[in-house]
Amino acid sequence: MRYIPGALFVSALVFAVQPVSAADVQAGEAKFKQLCATCHGPTGQGDGPAAAGLNPQPRDLSDPEWQESVDDEFIRKVTAEGGAAVGLAPTMTAFGHALSDEDLDNVVAYIRSLAD
Ligand code: HEC
Repeated sequence: MRYIPGALFVSALVFAVQPVSAADVQAGEAKFKQLCATCHGPTGQGDGPAAAGLNPQPRDLSDPEWQESVDDEFIRKVTAEGGAAVGLAPTMTAFGHALSDEDLDNVVAYIRSLAD
């Protein structure tokens, strides 16, 4: 019996820490659909209604090769600071004003989920 309090403490800790550290894919999806889908399409395939008028057009974000070629920090930076901050087109505008740190984590998690 003497080990049980320790086990309870550890599970309580894991339970308490998880909601803070785990990014929320569904919340990220909601933000993506609200702010990004006009150009990127609802599932990031580059088929949003505004994509046809863009040059260059946004790539398919579900493409596993692209997914592997970038790290989370890159996706976060493009999203927060815009394409120009990473040498991409400025038509990819900055969204740092519209997204909190937590929103950015969630949007990155949603984009990562597209490769599944
Ligand atoms: C006004 C249209 C538009 C909106 C809205 C938009 N983007 Fe983009 N985005 C683009 C374009 C165009 C590119 C491609 C730029 C290039 O290839 O030079 C791009 C590129 C990107 C890339 C880099 C892809 C690569 O080629 O490496 C990411 C990541 C991205 N966008 C995420 C987002 C996220 C997240 C949002 C919403 C918060 C968003 N974008 C909203 C137009 C848009």
